[in-house]
Amino acid sequence: MIIANFKSNGSEQMIVRWVQDFISNIDNNHTTLGIAPPYTYIEKLERLLSDANQNNLKVGAQDVGVGSGAKTGSVSSSMLADLNCNFAIIGHSERRKIFNESNELIREKLKNLISSKLTPVLCVGESYSDFENKKTLITIKEQLNECLLDIHIPQDIIIAYEPLWAIGSGKTPNPTDVNEINEYIKDVVQSATSNNYVPSVCYGGSVDVANAGSFFDCSNIDGALVGGASLDGKKFALIANEFNRNN
Ligand code: PGA
Repeated sequence: MIIANFKSNGSEQMIVRWVQDFISNIDNNHTTLGIAPPYTYIEKLERLLSDANQNNLKVGAQDVGVGSGAKTGSVSSSMLADLNCNFAIIGHSERRKIFNESNELIREKLKNLISSKLTPVLCVGESYSDFENKKTLITIKEQLNECLLDIHIPQDIIIAYEPLWAIGSGKTPNPTDVNEINEYIKDVVQSATSNNYVPSVCYGGSVDVANAGSFFDCSNIDGALVGGASLDGKKFALIANEFNRNN
């Protein structure tokens, strides 16, 4: 799956333009795609996509709260289900860093998404210092084990491998290395989940039109989580077309 993460970007006008640009550039019969706008634009985007018969483009959220009730500012998984969301991203490095989210909290979010039957897109990835010190696999294993501890996965979940140093930086790891890391992630998830679940694993971090194909050529890279380049409907469509050609 190719997923657009708008982060805290966009406006009513931008969303309308985005859908027009996407539709003018996307190939027919594309695979399922995901788009995560800010909460405030979810319904508008769903309406625009449905009016344009773009039923293969699923709308999701960039995060989810932990349960409902006395949690000011929090949006629960059942509220996202009411909005017809298909998935939610959890554990993005920006949430971990800016909002101090721990693996334990992310695990609670994961459980909530599972209970509302939404597809979780769980992000993991190492810092630059971990990368330099060859601790990538150790960091990822710890994140996965703590987020997935004793979790039974009854539905699809997607893992997004996103090295922190590649996000928004224009730097990318070698696709062959990512392919090996993604294979490792599949093994770790299989061992960590109580029902031996093997997930799809995407890559995220400075994916753009020019480099997307080099990632999609790799057998263990099952898609991409795209930030900056996804803000342009044309670029996102061209990345999705690249994925279609490789799958
Ligand atoms: P980027 O963001 O594509 O702008 O690097 C990816 C992400 O943060 O998910």
